[in-house]
Amino acid sequence: MRLDKFLSGALQIPRSAARALAGSGRVTVDGQLCRRADAAVPDGALVALDGAPLTREEHVYLMLNKPAGVVSASEDGRDTTVVDLVRGDYPRRELFPAGRLDKTSTGFVLLTDDGPFAHRLLAPRRHVPKTYRVGLDGPVTGAMVEGFAAGVTLADGQTLHPARLVPDPADPCAATVVLTQGVYHQIKRMFGVYGLGVDSLHRTAIGGVELDPALAPGRWRPLTAAEKDAIFAPAR
Ligand code: URA
Repeated sequence: MRLDKFLSGALQIPRSAARALAGSGRVTVDGQLCRRADAAVPDGALVALDGAPLTREEHVYLMLNKPAGVVSASEDGRDTTVVDLVRGDYPRRELFPAGRLDKTSTGFVLLTDDGPFAHRLLAPRRHVPKTYRVGLDGPVTGAMVEGFAAGVTLADGQTLHPARLVPDPADPCAATVVLTQGVYHQIKRMFGVYGLGVDSLHRTAIGGVELDPALAPGRWRPLTAAEKDAIFAPAR
């Protein structure tokens, strides 16, 4: 494997940054300084940065702040996808979103190439909570809070798991919703039962991990090892 590819995978940085790093004189291969990005790294070689050994990560886990208008898919003939946003930096990874947001929704989407991890995250029996900030076209009432907690019955007769609805004390038309289930258009349909329309929907957390406020819409970063574990923790 080429050194720049190794560095890019090990540090989860774009290939261009890996090339620059290789040229910086901070990288050794089996103890020898190596400045050539295209140098071949033999199987089992010890690659080190500033003297610290690196291991190449098997999988990629990215936290993306999805902008409105982008679809939660790997490929789409018409619209830009969440994977299109990161593909330039991970050209050889088979990334996909672990869970979907509607095209108009924004916020935390987890992109990975680890199928079993995504399966664990999405398995209905695991109930990994997802937290949303919601803007509505009318005020939230106590009846809605109680109805969400009991389990809303949708127009098609389906009764949902209990969900947490926390009104925003500063804005009667805004709330936080925590779901442990992933039904198509779930929040819009839940509020629809009470005659309210959803004006904005932003996912702020998956499990115990909050969307990094430093990520502007369309930006992403790798999850830290601690965040990867905290994905399966309760919402904070
Ligand atoms: N519920 C919705 O209605 N839309 C989303 O994107 C997520 C949850």
